[in-house]
Amino acid sequence: MRLTGKSAIVTGAGRGIGKATALQFAREGADVLVPDLDLATSEQTAGEIQALGRKGVPLRMDVTRMADIQRMVKTAIREFGKIDILVNNAGITLVRDMMKLTEAEWDRTMSINAKAVFFCLQAVAREMIKRQSGVILNASSISGRAGKPMLVDYCASKFAVVGITQSAALALARHGIRVNAVAPGIVDTEMWEQIDREWGALEGKPPGEMKRTRVAAVPLGRIETPEDVASLYTFLASDEAGYITGQTYNVCGGLQLN
Ligand SMILES: NC(=O)c1ccc[n+]([C@@H]2O[C@H](COP(=O)([O-])OP(=O)(O)OC[C@H]3O[C@@H](n4cnc5c(N)ncnc54)[C@H](O)[C@@H]3O)[C@@H](O)[C@H]2O)c1
Repeated sequence: MRLTGKSAIVTGAGRGIGKATALQFAREGADVLVPDLDLATSEQTAGEIQALGRKGVPLRMDVTRMADIQRMVKTAIREFGKIDILVNNAGITLVRDMMKLTEAEWDRTMSINAKAVFFCLQAVAREMIKRQSGVILNASSISGRAGKPMLVDYCASKFAVVGITQSAALALARHGIRVNAVAPGIVDTEMWEQIDREWGALEGKPPGEMKRTRVAAVPLGRIETPEDVASLYTFLASDEAGYITGQTYNVCGGLQLN
């Protein structure tokens, strides 16, 4: 039990990587707040956390709304008394021919994937500074380490997460707060179903083919599971990672090397 007595917030934990992370945190002894745009999935994850004997608290929120971010922090403090861990996991993707990307699409991706990461981090760090302790983990991607032709806004947002992580790690180190990022590869979630559909349609490929082709290029020879990512988040959230800050770690089966 690596997170006994800790309390965590995992944004976008209604499904996918966020859900796997919230459940793994609970199995390691943490109580978890589950903010998500979708209340039904948030309640589902919170219920599964409760079934593990931990406190699981559902919350409907939009990470791009400042008032929702304040409500998220207030709810966590009311329910747990403190916040030890924040995982900025909520994110979206969009597959577009770069020449057709609109300003509204660019703004939406940057707002959820980058701007909200910073303002959630800032709001939670205010609480962590009071206790001179905490861990903040941000969702980057292998698309935050190297560009992709059909994902220009997504790549820009995930590169931004690396910059936010490094800057915040330096600013918050003197307060005992560690900040790191995680860069997954091709993870078996709804997000990759969408990428497969949209990218396949742009290239005239049948459903499933983009995903199969990309997974065939993974050196470890299989698709990544949400639990593969959750394991890295759990390690980085634990005291075992107490000397690690300002880093971005790839967890991608060898697909991206840097
Ligand atoms: N799936 C992958 O292959 C992959 C690879 C690298 C990085 N990532 C990143 O990991 C994170 C999770 O990805 P996933 O595959 O689990 O995605 P997903 O689409 O399966 O789940 C995302 C969750 O975030 C929630 N969400 C979306 N917008 C929100 C908002 N404005 N406010 C609150 N919640 C919101 C959704 O409701 C959903 O529950 C994302 O940041 C993603 O960019 C995913």
